[in-house]
Amino acid sequence: MADKWTAAEIPNQHGRTAVVTGANSGIGFCAARELSRAGARVVLAVRNAEKGAEAGRKIREAVPGGEIEVGSLDLGSLASVRGFAEWFAREHENIDLLINNAGVMAAHPRQLTADGFELQFGTNHLGHFALTGLLLDRMAGRDDARVVTVSSGAHRMGRINFDDLQATA
Ligand SMILES: NC(=O)c1ccc[n+]([C@@H]2O[C@H](COP(=O)([O-])OP(=O)(O)OC[C@H]3O[C@@H](n4cnc5c(N)ncnc54)[C@H](OP(=O)(O)O)[C@@H]3O)[C@@H](O)[C@H]2O)c1
Repeated sequence: MADKWTAAEIPNQHGRTAVVTGANSGIGFCAARELSRAGARVVLAVRNAEKGAEAGRKIREAVPGGEIEVGSLDLGSLASVRGFAEWFAREHENIDLLINNAGVMAAHPRQLTADGFELQFGTNHLGHFALTGLLLDRMAGRDDARVVTVSSGAHRMGRINFDDLQATA
């Protein structure tokens, strides 16, 4: 069996800008830290400013000199998604890597986003879809620009009910 991939194999990211959603914890935090270690300028796109600041502090501690920024993004609000994209466009000319990582799972009882979409569908899918669309033109002409959408092995078991995308039943 081949050796497992490790973050040490991330190629040099100097000169590249990455946005990681939900970067204050879990997979997003690790991805942001390791991209920073590889030299990327990393924007932590988070909904909780305090958690974002703490994650930024920890990454700077692990990667002295790393370029880390925190941006406010609530994927459960399309106004917030638009606000983040506008802020990003003011602060950055380009983006090389967008990691759509943030997510919620199986909210019970059923909850809605600020725009009235079922919470998981609205946050994980629609929020990221809107974010990607709003940032995509900043990737134009960038070599090796990528959008990575984190999913789950659970998708193999699931089925989409296209007649009830808002999970009302
Ligand atoms: N860990 C696993 O075993 C596993 C398995 C399958 C799939 N996944 C997927 O992998 C991704 C990361 O998982 P994880 O385990 O690292 O999860 P996690 O530690 O719970 O992190 C989820 C992140 O998403 C953020 N988030 C949730 N709702 C948000 C919103 N409306 N706007 C902005 N950010 C929001 C959370 O912010 P707050 O801290 O503010 O809540 C948190 O930073 C998720 O998409 C998850 O579905 C993980």
